Amino acid sequence: MLTQQTVNVAYDRAIDGRGLPAGLCYGGDYNPEQWPESVWQEDMALMRTAGVNLVTVGVFAWSSLQPRPDVFELDWLARVLDLLHAHGIGAVLATPTASPPPWFSRLHPDALPMTADGVRLIHGSRDTYCPSAPAYLAAARTICATLVARFRDHPALAMWHVHNEYGAVCHCPHSTAAFRTWLRDRYRTLDALNDAWTTAFWGQGYGDWDEIETPRATRYLANPGQDLDFRRFCSDALLAAYVQQRDLIRAATPDVPVTTNFVFGPWVPVDHARWAKEVDIVAIDDYPSEAGPGADDQTAFAGDLARGWARGRPWLLMESAPNLIHTPGRMHAKEPGRLAVHSLAHVARGSRGVMFFQWRQPRGGAERFHSAVVTHAGADTRVFREVVALGERLRTTVPAVPRHPTAIVFDAHSWWALQGPGLPTAVDYLAEVRAAHKALGAADVVFPGEPVDAYRTVVVPALFLLDDAYAEVLRRHVLRGGTLVVSYLSGVCDAYARVRLGGYPGALRDVLGIRVEEFQPLAAPVELGFPAAAVPETGMFWSERIHLRGAVAEATYLGGSWKGLPAITRHGRAWYLSTRLGPEAYARTMAHIVNTER
Ligand code: GLA
Repeated sequence: MLTQQTVNVAYDRAIDGRGLPAGLCYGGDYNPEQWPESVWQEDMALMRTAGVNLVTVGVFAWSSLQPRPDVFELDWLARVLDLLHAHGIGAVLATPTASPPPWFSRLHPDALPMTADGVRLIHGSRDTYCPSAPAYLAAARTICATLVARFRDHPALAMWHVHNEYGAVCHCPHSTAAFRTWLRDRYRTLDALNDAWTTAFWGQGYGDWDEIETPRATRYLANPGQDLDFRRFCSDALLAAYVQQRDLIRAATPDVPVTTNFVFGPWVPVDHARWAKEVDIVAIDDYPSEAGPGADDQTAFAGDLARGWARGRPWLLMESAPNLIHTPGRMHAKEPGRLAVHSLAHVARGSRGVMFFQWRQPRGGAERFHSAVVTHAGADTRVFREVVALGERLRTTVPAVPRHPTAIVFDAHSWWALQGPGLPTAVDYLAEVRAAHKALGAADVVFPGEPVDAYRTVVVPALFLLDDAYAEVLRRHVLRGGTLVVSYLSGVCDAYARVRLGGYPGALRDVLGIRVEEFQPLAAPVELGFPAAAVPETGMFWSERIHLRGAVAEATYLGGSWKGLPAITRHGRAWYLSTRLGPEAYARTMAHIVNTER
């Protein structure tokens, strides 16, 4: 359906720096601190067999590297790096700041995170820190600077990996104070904040900055503007924690790329599109939340999204599972053969390599059953053989970064807003975007605030928040002759999660040539009359009462409250879908739109 252009990868110095392997990177997280040194030699031999050329070391090793506040033990890591270098394997050297040691928590209880319910979390897992606590930030700088000073010239050093999967949320007094400062910077005056958050509703008007809390447990629905701003604040607070380490590293080793691994999920308060500008190469961890074909779809979207974050440059699959994957409360397996299918799917979407979590399956610890390359059963396994076979294949695979003529808009802020309080329906934003992606088969991913000039078609699923400037970008895209496909719940609110008045979809009414008067969730599917479709289509989940203001009805509701009224509209090249289509119908509709507009 879509043509795809493949461009040769021009590696730039920022990525290749001093030591990333020239071809594709292959390896994963290596945790030698969990094993006696006698095992390390076997690891090296097996890595050679598998074709491994890059491993990440030190991610959670803080308590091994700094066992007491004033004691640093780096020699074991030096021996690991020497060994790797002797075997031709590069090291992605991590800073261990995602898992502060128990002595740190004991010394600085104020730096432990607090939940929205006011519960102070204790060490014993990982990510038990407040990103705004001065003691944590100081300790992170210290361990980072210590590693930099010791290993800056080590020949195995290929890349720096700051922290692990930034995403921690905290409601403690340090976070609250930092949130207030962030809000003062953003709004300048309390009047502006009260207006943005519509605090006149339920008498929440603030008269002093110190009255403002993080959105902690409260009686009933919280304020949507406060909730959204808190997630933005969390993203910025975590970014500042990353940047302090990155800058320290860059100053010492400007020729070594620095990154952090992006984790993606509804619980992650990180605006990766923004963060991506602060890393030398975008690196992602990808763990599909289901098995079977659904995992293939998720993998395809994750790869296209990572390339979007990388703005079309190569990126790196930093972690993936050879087999069993942890998802909340359970594990699910990757079927035999899928290890290669998913890995190559990422490479085909621009990944500069394939990295697994992790090299050797631990005998204890919370993730002892999460998959690894060398499993509890050893290396005489299906998984290891699949890893070896993939290693051979990658040696002859030429990296490339595809480009597509169609782009999907992805917006972390709309996702956050659609997880917030007081919504017209419980909609899973990620599922909406993935459904559009699946309907297209493949696409580039773009982000609000950035131009779309390079694309013939721009698809906008459930873009709940839309500011005037980006509405103008989309309008100009259509004026220029581009195709626009917008789905329900887009353009409903401004950047503060306040509803745009005059009818939905707010700032896109004119370009779409419609005015939506009313929403109605669908209790049961409704048949659609869609003359252009060869087969009857069905609308599900959602419906809207649409008035045509220049657009034509391409499909109408054949039943329900809006019987005879438009369901899918077209205004020149601007299309609007007011209801959810099933996967096949969505794909047929996208094909129809793309073919019509060619
Ligand atoms: C993430 C983390 C790893 C590990 C894996 C597997 O990607 O970075 O430390 O927890 O998930 O669950």
